[in-house]
Amino acid sequence: MDILWINGEYMPLNEGRVSMEERGLLFGEGIYEVIAAYDGAPILMDEHLDRWERSAKGIHLEPKYTREEREEVLHELIRRMGHPRVTLYGQLTRGAARRNHAFPKKTEPLEFWFVRELPPYPDTMFADGVSAVTHPDERWARCWIKATNLLANVLAKQYAAERGAFESILVREDGTVTEASVANFHMVKDGIVYTHPDDGRILAGCKRHMVLQLARDADIQVREERYTIDFLRKADEGFLTSTTINVLPVTKLDTAPIGTGRVGATTRRLMDLTQAEVTRRKLQNTPVTT
Ligand code: PDD
Repeated sequence: MDILWINGEYMPLNEGRVSMEERGLLFGEGIYEVIAAYDGAPILMDEHLDRWERSAKGIHLEPKYTREEREEVLHELIRRMGHPRVTLYGQLTRGAARRNHAFPKKTEPLEFWFVRELPPYPDTMFADGVSAVTHPDERWARCWIKATNLLANVLAKQYAAERGAFESILVREDGTVTEASVANFHMVKDGIVYTHPDDGRILAGCKRHMVLQLARDADIQVREERYTIDFLRKADEGFLTSTTINVLPVTKLDTAPIGTGRVGATTRRLMDLTQAEVTRRKLQNTPVTT
């Protein structure tokens, strides 16, 4: 059973209740995070909670709970769930008030977190790679905020699903490739990893940061610079990164294979390095049980 913590109380997820006037519901006015935990150990929790705080500031929202209280809740949810592979989903919204676009003078923010099982993805996805389609990046200019208002992302992901693809790769009007609808995207050409810079136009993924650091440590060249869809069409490899998928190869874009259409050497190396690093972090953070 999925477990919810909402404004101080634990309960089964389906027992949670929110006001009809919650601004998160009326305006999509909130921020969120998704954290993975394996064998009781949350991965990159500090990075996720740093981003939570940055995102909240980005919409001028002051959380009611402290970071320490939040960490305690997350550990307690993982403990109560008792499953080896879970995700924690957290959301912070401005609260309930009579509908008016400008911020209400006084509202209490609504914070909740729930935990649920993270079923493993099929092995074939990682062995063969997935396909992606290109889609216009129709999002707003503050993509660095992990905002709950995800209409452009939802429509782009649905566009991919309707075409039998796993993801949409988002392309701006000037041809710049930014990221995917629910993950960061990176391409490889001549052994060099190219990825859109963390300049506000993408979500600064926690996994992205970890994987790029692993690449640099392994002497794989990384270029965080703007590149275009024309350059991507000549790529040798492509891959996605996110909390839930870690490193996932993309071997087909629209109707054409990327490179040979098979998982490339650089992607394979980063998958292995990431797996090892996640295991290392897991062991470091596994709670000691007596
Ligand atoms: N999505 N870019 C976008 C648009 C995302 O939604 C996500 C994550 C990422 C990767 O960020 P991270 O490495 O911190 O997970 C990049 C989450 C998993 C989601 O919305 O479910």
